Amino acid sequence: MTKLIGTMPDVAVDAPADGPVIAHPKPLLRRVYLKTFGCQMNVYDSERMSEMLSAEGYANTADPADADLVILNTCHIREKAVEKVYSDLGRLRDLKIERQAQGRETIIAVAGCVAQAEGAEIARRAPAVDVVIGPQSYHRLPELADKARQQGRAQIETSFPEDEKFNQLPVRTLGPASDGQAARRPASAFLTVQEGCDKFCTFCVVPYTRGAEYSRPVEKLVDEAHRLVDEGVREITLLGQNVNAYHGEGPDGSHWTLARLMHALADIPALERLRYMTSHPRDIGDDLIAAHRDCSKLMPFLHLPFQAGSDRILAAMNRKHTARDYLALIERIRAVRPDLALSTDVIVGFPGETEAEFDATLAVIRQIGFAQAYSFKYSPRPGTPAATIGEQIPDVVKTERLARLQALLDEQQTAFNAASIGQTIPVLFERIGRGDGQLVGRTPHLQLVHAEATPLLLGRIISVEIRGSGQTSLRGVIKAA
Ligand code: SAH
Ligand code: SF4
Ligand code: F3S
Repeated sequence: MTKLIGTMPDVAVDAPADGPVIAHPKPLLRRVYLKTFGCQMNVYDSERMSEMLSAEGYANTADPADADLVILNTCHIREKAVEKVYSDLGRLRDLKIERQAQGRETIIAVAGCVAQAEGAEIARRAPAVDVVIGPQSYHRLPELADKARQQGRAQIETSFPEDEKFNQLPVRTLGPASDGQAARRPASAFLTVQEGCDKFCTFCVVPYTRGAEYSRPVEKLVDEAHRLVDEGVREITLLGQNVNAYHGEGPDGSHWTLARLMHALADIPALERLRYMTSHPRDIGDDLIAAHRDCSKLMPFLHLPFQAGSDRILAAMNRKHTARDYLALIERIRAVRPDLALSTDVIVGFPGETEAEFDATLAVIRQIGFAQAYSFKYSPRPGTPAATIGEQIPDVVKTERLARLQALLDEQQTAFNAASIGQTIPVLFERIGRGDGQLVGRTPHLQLVHAEATPLLLGRIISVEIRGSGQTSLRGVIKAA
């Protein structure tokens, strides 16, 4: 996923309706361009970085040619994701040279999981890079950018400091809506509650790039959620690499589970929807299953990766569960929440995967029926055990298996969406659509809905009658505002 963080006005001035124009304490001379790769954790981190930099006097720009500071918040999960970063860095080097010729300086920073995994190697491969900063050190970004500017050499920070970053970054504010309209505030926000991973699946870099599992304390999260809701957020998605391994300290000193945290957040009156991702099948506790029955604000949607359908492959992946365990788990959750929509992650072409083992993956998909899914060709990652075990599967085979897998998943997603036609569904409108007078929102099952509606309905949950469907979205008409 690639996302540009929105632009901000050029000059930061507070202009009270009936008072003098007051300049910010720090003059806004510098601009930052921030590009985000990878998962929602990176999107969340980018938002926090953006807020911090705005407090430091940086204005956002959507044009890298205009930026004094360029940040690539990168992903290391598959080789392709890393290649994209290096090709962007090539283009940015040219831009830096062009700006230099005009007497303008550009600081290029690489943040995120490539920064953590490759460290100083990045500055060696891409000498235009001035700052390499791992995900645990973002609070030090302004200082390192200044240092790079002054010293004229690359600054590398990839340690895992004890004092975790969430305590160092400024408290959240979404900032003033750019045109003063409440309607422009985001209706849906991410909240990272857990970070890192201790599971060490043999294909995966996350335990190396994000470090050991860490859960943020309950009170901090409740505070942050309150602030988001006060600013107009109606839906919060709790994030973590293994979000259901959450075990943060509660106000009573005990360790709270994700379900307990969710019940506490559900008590915030103006918060209407809760979601969580990504979960690991081994950490779905009884109380989380019960929350899908008892917590009315928890949406009937679950993203639960199963990766592969063959038990031999699952064991080689170190997933520590079988296909039957996964199916049984889904059955238990569906028993308490029959309308649950499911999403998953699947990998094809893990080392040694036979045709029969791949068929076992298709069989699980057929048995369950997914509302949506992400599927990937196995990508050997340096330093992970799977990169050197068994026989690597040729790319043509992976491509062919992926195509077959995706055809099945697309068929299931299309059927799932088509089943919504004729229903009236509560939709949370999140943004203005591309079509004339259209808004885009989400159903409880996370389906995208396009409907003609006034922007006044942004940030509100409205009944929509579904009239049409495609593979990735629905079309509807407003029933009641
Ligand atoms: N913590 C989550 C997954 C996080 S990574 C979990 O355990 O389910 C997101 C997804 O990327 C994974 O679910 C997996 O399907 C995919 N992935 C991770 N490493 C990969 C690799 N080396 N090659 C291909 N896909 C990979
Ligand atoms: Fe990666 Fe496995 Fe951890 Fe998920 S559980 S982040 S796939 S090591
Ligand atoms: Fe990528 Fe790091 Fe997320 S490797 S998937 S950005 S945790």
